[in-house]
Amino acid sequence: MTTFWSWYITILTIATLVALLWLVFATRKGEPKGGTDKTMGHSFDGIEEYDNPLPKWWFMLFIGTIAFTAVYLVLYPGLGNWKGIFPGYENGWTQVGQWQREMDKADAQYGPIFAKYAAMPITEVAKDEAAMKMGGRLFSTYCAICHGSDAKGSMGFPNLTDKHWRWGGEPDAIQASILNGRLGVMPGWGAVIGEEGVKNVAAYVRQDLAKLKLADDVQADLGKGKEIYATNCSVCHGAEGKGMPMLGAPDLTSPAGWIYGTSMAQLQQTIRYGRNGQMPAQEPYLGADKVHILAAYVYSLSQQAEAGAQ
Ligand code: HEC
Ligand code: HEC
Repeated sequence: MTTFWSWYITILTIATLVALLWLVFATRKGEPKGGTDKTMGHSFDGIEEYDNPLPKWWFMLFIGTIAFTAVYLVLYPGLGNWKGIFPGYENGWTQVGQWQREMDKADAQYGPIFAKYAAMPITEVAKDEAAMKMGGRLFSTYCAICHGSDAKGSMGFPNLTDKHWRWGGEPDAIQASILNGRLGVMPGWGAVIGEEGVKNVAAYVRQDLAKLKLADDVQADLGKGKEIYATNCSVCHGAEGKGMPMLGAPDLTSPAGWIYGTSMAQLQQTIRYGRNGQMPAQEPYLGADKVHILAAYVYSLSQQAEAGAQ
């Protein structure tokens, strides 16, 4: 802010405060001597108005708010370029500064706990009850918004409690998914194979790979679908449709792990236009130590699922 505007704001603000203070005192009346039964002299349908001074508590409230403002403007930035003299903030108080101080305080307090777990293998952390409680809380804060509070996912967001993995379910793969994020790149095929092609290959994926029944009214050439699959899809999804974790290409033989739906309409939508599921990288926000605990937490969820399934 230039010096001119800084002074402009400062003078305007202070002048307004002084004017308000003057107004409060100038319009103040003392207690009337002869009691409080004097009226203003007018009457509305028999209702009359007494000519009483402002109650003292109310008057003091006015003074209080003005005093508060004065103290506030000394401590905090508000008057032009004035940075305020809030104790502990040598460069003036700011929201960002306060946030940073609180984060630093939390890091100093919890950092050593996170560091202790970061030094342990993920499979060990996953067995530590206290760490898993922390993991659960971190998950609710940072992950539930997409993966659901029960981590079971929803349309477009994978279920993290089952044994279907797009990018791999080993502790290291899970950790890498969370640390660096993932971007699923399924190209759109509508322009390449045409509407008939989309329908044929969708039917092939649904019936021959996923082993899901086709509705009776679906007219599709499964042989042609198979050819299209071999030419265009097997590069990523594998010759047998088992998927390729390196690319995040899902296993097309286990529809339970699909995230974009299994109906013919949804399959065709996926194949026609492609999909780009994005898992945002967490390292920049959470740091490697917290991600380590989260990876252990996610790993423990899938272990429970496997134990339960057997
Ligand atoms: C370049 C690699 C690549 C090719 C080629 C490819 N896919 Fe995909 N496919 C992917 C990836 C990666 C995903 C996951 C996208 C995501 O997670 O958003 C995917 C997702 C899908 C899904 C959705 C699964 C779900 O979770 O709901 C279907 C169905 C599918 N592909 C079918 C096909 C068919 C059929 C073809 C051939 C016409 C094909 N794909 C070609 C990489 C590929
Ligand atoms: C903005 C939404 C979003 C948030 C927030 C998010 N995720 Fe994800 N996550 C996704 C999507 C979408 C995918 C699937 C990417 C793909 O299509 O391959 C994914 C994939 C994953 C995977 C890989 C799953 C697999 O099958 O290989 C893991 C593990 C994961 N997320 C864990 C987490 C954790 C832990 C957090 C919290 C720190 C988190 N995610 C926060 C959207 C999100």
